[in-house]
Amino acid sequence: MNRKPNIAVVGATGVVGSTFLKVLEERDFPFENIYMMASAKSAGKKLTFKGKEYIIEELTEHSFDKPIDIALFSAGGSTSEKFAPIAASKGVIVVDNSSQWRMDKEVPLVVPEVNPEDIKWNKGIIANPNCSTIQAMVALKPLQEKYGIKRVVYSTYQAVSGSGVKGINDLKNGLAGKDDELQAYAHPIAGNCLPHIDVFTDNGYTKEEMKMINETHKILDENIKVTATTVRVPVFDSHSESINVELEKPFELKDVVELFKNSPGIIVQDDVANNVYPLARDAAGTDEVYIGRIRRDFSLDNGLNIWVVADNIRKGAATNAIQIAEQLIKDMDD
Ligand SMILES: NC(=O)c1ccc[n+]([C@@H]2O[C@H](COP(=O)([O-])OP(=O)(O)OC[C@H]3O[C@@H](n4cnc5c(N)ncnc54)[C@H](OP(=O)(O)O)[C@@H]3O)[C@@H](O)[C@H]2O)c1
Repeated sequence: MNRKPNIAVVGATGVVGSTFLKVLEERDFPFENIYMMASAKSAGKKLTFKGKEYIIEELTEHSFDKPIDIALFSAGGSTSEKFAPIAASKGVIVVDNSSQWRMDKEVPLVVPEVNPEDIKWNKGIIANPNCSTIQAMVALKPLQEKYGIKRVVYSTYQAVSGSGVKGINDLKNGLAGKDDELQAYAHPIAGNCLPHIDVFTDNGYTKEEMKMINETHKILDENIKVTATTVRVPVFDSHSESINVELEKPFELKDVVELFKNSPGIIVQDDVANNVYPLARDAAGTDEVYIGRIRRDFSLDNGLNIWVVADNIRKGAATNAIQIAEQLIKDMDD
């Protein structure tokens, strides 16, 4: 491409959308024109980006009649279901944050540190994985390459910002002693851990748990045995995950630590003698995936336990999508 791309941010007023704008600005993402889109509710309102005011447009069937190269969608599954194909049919490449297209065989599901090569076979829509999956993939990819992975057990401790504005409100209200009007959850979140993220499916797992299982298969390897328990905890930002891994080959712990240290997107924080391990509050506002508590699982051969923390709105959503868009631009230039 011998010019800067035109981009659209769909869902620009939301928790993820506003982080898109922050990250685009921080990374000095190149663009010629940028269009801010949301629902009819926000149409006509103004928002400021890079010191300039933009008027928010209502997303309609005609929003992509103008020349747009890349659209970053974070406006929910039904919006993506309807509008992403319309955009793609007009030559726009959509990077979608909803779960709508993730398991579609025609749609690449991408974490740039893990499977950037899949970006190239897109047919107009590229899916961003679920926030809890993204950070797990960054951690597991080097292990898969070096040792092979047999089985993974995920136990997650997920922040309320993963439920958008409503989740944040439930925790804020709960901390203020007002638990009677819940917006996001079935039970008060303040002072609680809710083993219930997204809806329950017929097999007893929640949709969030099935997303982690299915997306791990699509991104890493369908032969890996995976199980998950996902839990919402009273934390505002950053998801924490205990990941138990059974590797194919034997390993030395010090080699695993070195492997993580030398892998893209990872920062190792593992010095228990000094109480150093990844913490949600420290990860908030950053783009890396933090790994600590790296230790052998003595209960099985080639077993490993790790603690993995990342900002769910940045690496788990906005940053990952923008990294995909950056790679798209590079591919267009090649
Ligand atoms: N929060 C996370 O950790 C996270 C992580 C990964 C992916 N996601 C996904 O990202 C999406 C947005 O999540 P969020 O947390 O940012 O939600 P949110 O704060 O509730 O924001 C929703 C955004 O979508 C817009 N929108 C809603 N209906 C629309 C429509 N019919 N047409 C155009 N725009 C519409 C809203 O615009 P108005 O302000 O005009 O209503 C708003 O900008 C969801 O699909 C979610 O699953 C979220």
